[in-house]
Amino acid sequence: MVVVGLFDSGVGGLTVARQVFQQLPAAHIIYYGDTARVPYGGKPVEELVYLADVITGFLIEQGAEVVIDACNSTSAVALEYLQTKYDVHVIGVIEPGVQAALNATKNGKIGLIATEATVKSGVHRRKLMEFAPKTTLFAQACPLFVPLIEAGEIDSPRVKAIAEEYLQPLQEAGIDTLILGCTHYPFLAPVLAEILGGEVQLVDPAVETVHRLLDVVPTPSGDGSNAEGKHLYYVSGDPGQFAKVGSMLLPGYTIDKVEKLVVG
Ligand code: DGL
Repeated sequence: MVVVGLFDSGVGGLTVARQVFQQLPAAHIIYYGDTARVPYGGKPVEELVYLADVITGFLIEQGAEVVIDACNSTSAVALEYLQTKYDVHVIGVIEPGVQAALNATKNGKIGLIATEATVKSGVHRRKLMEFAPKTTLFAQACPLFVPLIEAGEIDSPRVKAIAEEYLQPLQEAGIDTLILGCTHYPFLAPVLAEILGGEVQLVDPAVETVHRLLDVVPTPSGDGSNAEGKHLYYVSGDPGQFAKVGSMLLPGYTIDKVEKLVVG
């Protein structure tokens, strides 16, 4: 069965890993969470490209046959570079999110919440203009979310108050669809849905991203076995913290076998 490499600044990529567990349970996963350098959202482009490059190289060295850049901030600025440099398929999370939003919207008013790096890159706007020029994007950077999610705080009164503030301009703009444009944010989906009510559809780009993985892996049932794939986790920070918060964020899955390794 295929070996999938996945990376993010921290626990956010687990929202994409969760989709791989569900859609391709036999896949082996090597995950890299750069928890010593999280958050990525305020880092300059050159640093994001460098980190995405060294981590992708590491995952391929470890045997990854396909790599998912499970971080919007690096997908926004480094994906084309990675796709040109490496021979394996490198799949990003931006275009799948844009496509899923276009499938969902009825009024063409699409909201985006993401990191500062992703919003600044303008990549969602460019993709939307390419695929559906009549749509309008309303983007909001949410720098306070990632540190809270990394600490496992996803539904406290503090998180709710911050989310209300971030979402207010998007609600006022009349969006009917919201792209969760940072892989950490699907962990906040219950809080976001409560604030937005039933009128706004939340788009988790991970679902469509993993559809794209299915398009490029040889044969999903490759070796004929239904065995669950092996999952290995590497982090640059504290492995115990990652295992604890990761297991709390993904109930029903055990995040163990976490090793510390600093790449780059
Ligand atoms: N989860 C990442 C993203 O999708 C990075 C968030 C961060 O580290 O700021 O952008």
